[in-house]
Amino acid sequence: MKKGQELNLIINRVKYPNVGIGSFEDQDIRVKNVLKGQEVLCRISKKRSGRVEARALEVIQRAPNEQPSFCEHFNVCGGCMLQTLSYEDQVKAKMESVRNLFDEACLPLTFNEMIHSPEHFEYRNKMEFSFGDAFKDGPLTLGMHKKGHHHDVVNVPFCHLADADFRTVQTGVLAYATENGLLKYNKRSNIGFLRHLVVRKSKATGEVMVALSATTQAADADGNAFDQHAFAQYMLTLPLEGTLASLLYVKNDGLGDVVSGEIVCLHGQTHITEKILGLSFKITLYSFFQTNSHGAERLYQTAMDLIPNLDDKICFDLFSGTGTIGQIMARAARKVIGVEIVEDAVKAARENAKLNGLDNCTFLCGDVFKVLETVTEKPEVIVVDPPRSGMGEKTTAHIASYGIPEIVYISCNPSTLLEDLVVFGKYGYTASNVTLVDMFPWTGGVESIVKLQKKSM
Ligand SMILES: C[S@@+](CC[C@H](N)C(=O)[O-])C[C@H]1O[C@@H](n2cnc3c(N)ncnc32)[C@H](O)[C@@H]1O
Repeated sequence: MKKGQELNLIINRVKYPNVGIGSFEDQDIRVKNVLKGQEVLCRISKKRSGRVEARALEVIQRAPNEQPSFCEHFNVCGGCMLQTLSYEDQVKAKMESVRNLFDEACLPLTFNEMIHSPEHFEYRNKMEFSFGDAFKDGPLTLGMHKKGHHHDVVNVPFCHLADADFRTVQTGVLAYATENGLLKYNKRSNIGFLRHLVVRKSKATGEVMVALSATTQAADADGNAFDQHAFAQYMLTLPLEGTLASLLYVKNDGLGDVVSGEIVCLHGQTHITEKILGLSFKITLYSFFQTNSHGAERLYQTAMDLIPNLDDKICFDLFSGTGTIGQIMARAARKVIGVEIVEDAVKAARENAKLNGLDNCTFLCGDVFKVLETVTEKPEVIVVDPPRSGMGEKTTAHIASYGIPEIVYISCNPSTLLEDLVVFGKYGYTASNVTLVDMFPWTGGVESIVKLQKKSM
C-alpha cells in the first residue's frame, strides 16, 4: 500500500469523531466522514508508524440502512453528515461511534439509553453565516463554507436546522447587500466590508437577534460608508414570525475569521431572552448558549438527576457561560459559584440571577484554573461543562484536588472527555456510566454526561 494509491474500502466501524475504519490486506484504514456499511473509493493520504489514513473520493455503494437525503444543500454545505440515516439509526450510529472511541482507549463505560432531541428539525437557536462567493470572484453569497473548501461560501436558503426566521433574515440580508452593492471582505487582502451574519432566536419569547459583522471600511465600490439607518429600516420590514429585538453591527476589523469587535446597537437591545426549565436567561452576542434550547432542558435535567440532593450545599458551576446550570442548582443549593472566561457572559449571568430572583449565586470572570486558586470556599458539588478543547491536565487535577465524592462532567466532545477522565483516574475518580444527549440531529455532534465518583483509597 502506497501513499496516493486508490482503493475500494468497506467501512466496518466508525469511531468518534466521524472516523470510518475499513480493512484492506489486513490493515485498518481510517477515512473521515463516511458511514458504517458504505463502500467508498478512497485515496491513501498518510502512512505512518503502522497507521494508514485515506481520503474518501466517492461513495460506491451506500450503506444498507441509508435513505434519500432531504436537504437541497446535502453534500454541498458540509453539515448534516448523518442525514441519510433515519433518526433512530443516527442515534445508534452516534452511540456506537462514542463507544468505539472509549473501548479502543480501554476505558469501557456502560452506555445508558441515549436522550433524544425533542425537535429534529429547526432546532437551532443560533446560526453563523459567512459572506463570500460561490467561486472565486463569483456573485456575493451568504451561507456556509462549501464542504472541503476554506474560501467558497454556498447560500443555504433551505437549511432544515434553522427556523423560518433565520431563512428570512439570511435571504433578506443577502438581497439588501446585493441590491446596494455592498462589498464582501477579502480575507487575503483584508479589504472589503461584509464578513459574517449571526442570527439568534429565543424559542420561548420569539425574540430575534441579528448581528452583521463587517469592517469599518467603505461599504461599497463608490467609497460610501455603511448606511446604518437604512439597513435598520430595511431589516424592520422583513416578515418575521418572531420579533426583531436586537439588531447589531459588529465593527470587525480583526484579522482572524471570527465575529469580534465593538458592538453598535442599530435597533432594540443588545440581548434576547430565552427560558430554560422555568428560568429566564439574557443572551448577548458573545455569550455561549446551548444551540438547541429544548434539547438543553433535557441535557440539564439529566445532569441534575445525577445530583438530586443539593439542599444547603455549596455548588461550583465551572465553565458557566450565562450561568444556566448554576442557576438551576441555585434553586436548591445554599450557594453557587460560577466561573466563566467571557466577561460578557459573566455580566449576563449576574443579571440573569437577579432576573430570576436568585441571591445565592456569585459569578466570577476568568480562567477556571486561575480563579479557583483565589476562591477560599470548598465545594460540596461540582458540575463542569468545558468547551470542545476539554479542561486539560492542570485544571482537571485542580478540580480533583478538592477530593469531593462526586463530580458531574458535561462534555460536547467525547474525545477530550476521554482525556480528562484519564487524568481524573490518576486522582482516584472513576465513571461507570455515560449518558449521551442528542442536541444536534443529523450531524455527528453529541453531548455526554458522566458522574465521576471518588474511590475510597
Ligand atoms: C460548553 S460552554 C458551557 C456554558 C454553560 N455551562 C452552558 O451550559 O451554557 C463552555 C464555556 O466555557 C467557557 N470557557 C472556555 N474556556 C474557559 C476557561 N479556561 N475558563 C473559564 N471558562 C472558559 C466558554 O466561554 C463557554 O462559555
